[in-house]
Amino acid sequence: MAIREVYLDNSATTRPLPEVVRAVVDALENNYGNPSSLHRKGVEAGRVVTRAREAVAASLGVAPAEIVFTGAGSEAVNLAIKGARPGKRGRHVITTAVEHHAVLNACAQLKEQGIEVTVLPVDAAGVVDPERLAAELRDDTYLVSIMYVNNEVGAVQPLVEIAAVIGAARKAGRRLLWHVDAVQAYGKLPLRPRELGVDLLSISAHKVHGPKGVGALYVAPHTPLQPLVAGGGQEWGLRSGTENVPGIAGFGVAAEMIAREGHLAADRLRPLKKRLVEGILAAVPGAVLNGPACDKENPRCAPHIANISFPGLRGEILVHSLEGRGIYVSTGSACSSGKKPGSHVLQAMGLKEDVVEGAIRFSLSITNTEEEIDYAVKNTAAVVEELRALYG
Ligand SMILES: Cc1ncc(COP(=O)(O)O)c(C=O)c1O
Repeated sequence: MAIREVYLDNSATTRPLPEVVRAVVDALENNYGNPSSLHRKGVEAGRVVTRAREAVAASLGVAPAEIVFTGAGSEAVNLAIKGARPGKRGRHVITTAVEHHAVLNACAQLKEQGIEVTVLPVDAAGVVDPERLAAELRDDTYLVSIMYVNNEVGAVQPLVEIAAVIGAARKAGRRLLWHVDAVQAYGKLPLRPRELGVDLLSISAHKVHGPKGVGALYVAPHTPLQPLVAGGGQEWGLRSGTENVPGIAGFGVAAEMIAREGHLAADRLRPLKKRLVEGILAAVPGAVLNGPACDKENPRCAPHIANISFPGLRGEILVHSLEGRGIYVSTGSACSSGKKPGSHVLQAMGLKEDVVEGAIRFSLSITNTEEEIDYAVKNTAAVVEELRALYG
């Protein structure tokens, strides 16, 4: 087994596809006009943006006019949460304890402005209870922000049941906006915001083999949204600033692949994840899987993210030791200063301290192979044994 580099940190970012790189370079070299310019160079660059917008829209089953390109997934999330207009009565927002910091920190900013924020708890697998959402909805709730796939443990939130709760509230006359952070679901699971009644949905190019620094927000027709960036009125007036034409071109190519083959991704990733998880749990005594059990029947388990703890060891040390063998993984999220160290997601799931501290995340993409997984299993077992001999 002579593999030297195995990249299993695809939820942090992915390697761009060769055709994405070609599209970015082509746009840089040949479509350098400003899409707002009236001359041919501007029109050509504008066409690149239009084509990419059509591809992203097709990958979500929505209209091109409903796509707003942003500077990252985080910016799409911020536009949704801080741009959603509360209306006359709105002063309450609901989110969950396991959201990405883009959501949690945008909600914290709303709080500073006097908006009340309810944070829904999760169960031991990281999943939200839709009935709890129903119980927390108030007459002044104007926004619900619930992610699709959790980035640390791969918990898939029950969007269909959540859609039913939100649909019932709307039927009862409540004026509610629903934002879904779908950054980790895009390209892995079926994603049709219209069918669910979602108003706002965030995605990011670099998680799906596209370029970094470009994301998109789906905005359903008639959603009351105000821009965060004022200026020349690009992106339907919702995100001013000259468009990142090369980044958008690359995003378009990645989206074309998702529209073409995205439905196959889960089928390709699931057996790899199963091989990885079963391999490590069998080879390493005491290792535990965090998050939903990963069998095919479990709809709560994402096909590409496996969070595994090695209690008694520290995640950071494991990450660096695995790197020494050419395997790239990550800990959950870095601890922020002044806060309790360790992942807020694992803590919200109620896991014990040694489980939280000893957790690492393996995240897969369609470029990974069975041989890479076997290499990772064998070397994880070897690294854990070495470290336990040292520290145990
Ligand atoms: C669930 C989730 N939301 C939002 C983001 C932010 O995306 P970006 O890195 O494009 O800002 C990430 C990135 O890790 C994520 O995993």
